[in-house]
Amino acid sequence: MKIVVIGGTGLIGSKLAQKLHEQGQEVVAASPSSGVNTLTGEGLADALKGASVVVDVTNSPSWEDAAVLKFFETSTRNLLDYEASAGVGHHIALSVVGTERLLASGFFRAKLAQENLIKASSIPYSIIRATQFFEFVGKIADLSTEGNKVRLPPVLFQPMAADDVAGALGGIAMSSPVNDTVEIGGPEQFRLDEVIRRDLASRKDPREVISDPHARYYGIEVSERSLVPNNDARLGETRFEDWLNHAAKVPKTHQQRA
Ligand SMILES: NC(=O)c1ccc[n+]([C@@H]2O[C@H](COP(=O)([O-])OP(=O)(O)OC[C@H]3O[C@@H](n4cnc5c(N)ncnc54)[C@H](OP(=O)(O)O)[C@@H]3O)[C@@H](O)[C@H]2O)c1
Repeated sequence: MKIVVIGGTGLIGSKLAQKLHEQGQEVVAASPSSGVNTLTGEGLADALKGASVVVDVTNSPSWEDAAVLKFFETSTRNLLDYEASAGVGHHIALSVVGTERLLASGFFRAKLAQENLIKASSIPYSIIRATQFFEFVGKIADLSTEGNKVRLPPVLFQPMAADDVAGALGGIAMSSPVNDTVEIGGPEQFRLDEVIRRDLASRKDPREVISDPHARYYGIEVSERSLVPNNDARLGETRFEDWLNHAAKVPKTHQQRA
């Protein structure tokens, strides 16, 4: 079975491609650096020839409102069109838990547009909504930093390891399309401010985390359960503390590029 991972050089895509390869699958890790561009269509017909499954784990280079919407709409439309021509039988896309609760953000409006295009297409699909990756926690701190302070709301937060995201996607890629949305999350629930505080402390980052119920997450207001999945979510195995102990030994540039 040929599986094409679009965004195969990214954080999740590279882990997923490696896992599938180790399982003996025929995998193509596609991205602009390998001549496959979902915005222009370049290289898509060749990459998808003979493919049974496509996993879309691309991300927009810009998160500015109009740019990110244009990216996910154009990229998804092109991908679905080329998949229909190639006879692909399963389109899998990675989205975010709580997307419909976070629409004050242009990024999440773009993710919802991506999901809606997939649901409206004729190709059998599985939409996987993940919670925030452990690898993304440092970026959340940076987005909420003013001077030496990081201001965050103490809402519930259930992040997961990128490795577990890739593992879940690999399992879905080997299964039949669900034609529905599946939620995945981490094994433990925390408070957002607490996780960021622990992450910064583990890196000896001197920034102070201030718990502020009115502070914004990603530029928008969130409430107690905006970021956490439903009770039927599939949970990853990696615990935050174990990941932190490992991550503290790895240079930050190797954890999250975005
Ligand atoms: N961050 C989180 O906590 C979180 C949580 C849940 C879901 N997600 C979702 O997970 C997905 C993957 O995230 P990630 O962190 O793994 O992304 P990432 O590391 O930023 O990787 C993005 C990938 O997209 C590729 N790409 C960019 N433009 C492209 C184009 N025009 N055509 C084809 N490929 C293109 C990149 O290729 P190059 O390397 O060649 O540029 C790269 O392989 C995103 O859709 C995101 O919304 C993220």
